[in-house]
Amino acid sequence: MSGEFKIKAVNLTRKFDRRTIFENVNFEINSGSAIAITGKNGSGKSTLIKIISNLLSQSSGSIDLYENNNKVKRENIFRYIGFVSPYLNLYDEFSGFENLKLISNIRGEGHNNIDLVLQKVGLYQRRNDLLKIYSSGMKQRLKIAFAILHNPQILLMDEPTSNLDHDGVSIVDNITDEYKINKIVIIATNDEHERSLCSSDINLNDSSNQKINGE
Ligand SMILES: Nc1ncnc2c1ncn2[C@@H]1O[C@H](COP(=O)(O)OP(=O)(O)OP(=O)(O)O)[C@@H](O)[C@H]1O
Ligand SMILES: [Mg+2]
Repeated sequence: MSGEFKIKAVNLTRKFDRRTIFENVNFEINSGSAIAITGKNGSGKSTLIKIISNLLSQSSGSIDLYENNNKVKRENIFRYIGFVSPYLNLYDEFSGFENLKLISNIRGEGHNNIDLVLQKVGLYQRRNDLLKIYSSGMKQRLKIAFAILHNPQILLMDEPTSNLDHDGVSIVDNITDEYKINKIVIIATNDEHERSLCSSDINLNDSSNQKINGE
């Protein structure tokens, strides 16, 4: 059912107005890897991960997703992507369970794995509590649940362990270890531990072009 995936960026450049955030970034990432996007605050890690997810567009250059060497249409990319993002807004007036149910409705999926995913992130006991009484770590766990609900081929995580306790960090470790076997994991991070889960880096401070995947 699932094939080999590849994300290829060529001379990827993003500007906001006249400010160049990053320029001529090149990389190729294949199924079976976990890659970190690193760089100083403001270097463009979150911007790059949003471009990979197709939430934002590049200013120039190209970024494409391939399934078995066939280019995936831009408008279909979201089907393959799970995104743990600090910018994601969840619904405070709904419970954890209802938030996930809403997302799977929007995605046009069934609801049969919601309980399983809630168990995986350690929120099953609190699934019926409204989000407005969740702690920040509980909300972060729900964002992880949201990202893995449809078992995506590409898991993008922007600072995934922020606000998480020791057990929460282990959840991210386990999910990353599981996904990087035959899927793609990309983590935007300044955190040494998150970086250690990955085999190579796309360093946005490094103005020379990056070559990654195993070397
Ligand atoms: N919508 C926007 N309009 C204008 N500038 C923006 C916008 N979004 C981001 N930027 C700018 O782009 C740069 C990169 O921001 P980004 O959030 O990608 O950095 P980051 O590497 O994720 O930083 P951090 O380590 O703090 O998370 C910053 O200078 C930021 O001000
Ligand atoms: Mg960021």
